[in-house]
Amino acid sequence: MLIHSAAQLLTIAGPPQRGHALGNLGIIENGAVLIDDDLIAAVGPSDEMRVIYADEEMLDATGRVVMPGLVDPHTHVVWAGDRAAEFEMRIQGKTYMEIMQAGGGIVSTVRNTRSASLGKLLTETRPRLERMFANGTTTAEVKSGYGLNTETELKTLDAVLALDAEGPIELAPTFLGAHALPPEYKDNPQGYTDLVCEDMLPALKEWWQHQLAVISNQLSVASHQSSVTGQPITNLPFTDVFCETGAFTLKQSRQILETARELGFPLKIHADEFDNLGGAALAAELGAASADHLVVTSKEDIAAMGASDTVAVSLPCTPFGLAEGEYTPAKDFLDADCILAIATDINPGTAWCESMQFAITLACRYLRLTPAQAIVAATLNAAAAIDRADRIGSLEPGKQADLLILDVPDYRHLGYRIGGNLVHTVIKKGQVYTI
Ligand code: NIG
Ligand code: FE
Repeated sequence: MLIHSAAQLLTIAGPPQRGHALGNLGIIENGAVLIDDDLIAAVGPSDEMRVIYADEEMLDATGRVVMPGLVDPHTHVVWAGDRAAEFEMRIQGKTYMEIMQAGGGIVSTVRNTRSASLGKLLTETRPRLERMFANGTTTAEVKSGYGLNTETELKTLDAVLALDAEGPIELAPTFLGAHALPPEYKDNPQGYTDLVCEDMLPALKEWWQHQLAVISNQLSVASHQSSVTGQPITNLPFTDVFCETGAFTLKQSRQILETARELGFPLKIHADEFDNLGGAALAAELGAASADHLVVTSKEDIAAMGASDTVAVSLPCTPFGLAEGEYTPAKDFLDADCILAIATDINPGTAWCESMQFAITLACRYLRLTPAQAIVAATLNAAAAIDRADRIGSLEPGKQADLLILDVPDYRHLGYRIGGNLVHTVIKKGQVYTI
């Protein structure tokens, strides 16, 4: 299939974009992209491509922007219930941390998620994923973390794999057993940290090895290989920790992440959402894929991130959702040569946001990113934050055919416009979905 006559084709070709190099869209005006099965076969000027590939099925994108599918590299989208009442309390003046210390917050979603069956979790999560997909997210990372015991953490990850298999949105699982202290360990943070290290992470490893055996039985070896590297695709789940006052200390975060690393898991961290504990520098030191939130990160920690390949993931929907004034100081991260990405952080407490377009809108205003910078942060750099930049995030031959056709003639409408959906068509692994 040839998608042709795009007013602007954003290829975003090349490696993840560091520091002030962020924002190179690789635009082809009047561009075309050839899709062969589930992969991109060629990109180029429409006039030439229409002659060379005259026999292909044609999709006319006249007057529209064609770009890579949005990648949401930080979500908590699998949960049961809601926290509308807490939202109202916050609006009336209670803080997120006050509600959490009073037994609400994450732990209230934990109660609902523990008592939900796998079927109920799937039923509640599916419409959220459908809205994410309709808003242009073609791949999303998804964290557990509303179980806080082995059984419910693995039930959540089972849900992630089941929803990934259903498609069309592709999901990358993350184990966030260290999201909060469960009620039964309320006064024993070290005991829970040890439980994560000694029981939950080994159980996760066993669970994953079982899943891998199931996956490789179901898929032919060919379809289970990266078309770019030829390597088998066996993305292990990430291990993540909420390194924050009231959650896990830097020392406990290190213990969990080092244990996970020894077991072979790639790493992530929630750091500096409210307090600067040093989590971002720890992520850089341990070679984590990303450190996320990064609102109150120190200059030293930002420098450590800039000297590493750890992606800095900013979550602008979270301070917005909490009605707080402080956002990631994006310019400092770019000055330090960091790889900057953005995500929604969709969760029932701080930011129930299914739209990466809205994250872009906020990033332009509060992180002061240009639309071009925000778009790269939401595609190629977001793919790097989940170790998938070799497969998705840009329109280049050999990459997966995950694309959006936007019903606008200029990419800057992303960021400029607020709260709507500019997506006309989503193409996921070469399949066309009209929105
Ligand atoms: O990323 N920071 C910790 N976790 C989520 C909030 C989860 C919740 O409140 O349910 C976040 O903002
Ligand atoms: Fe989060």
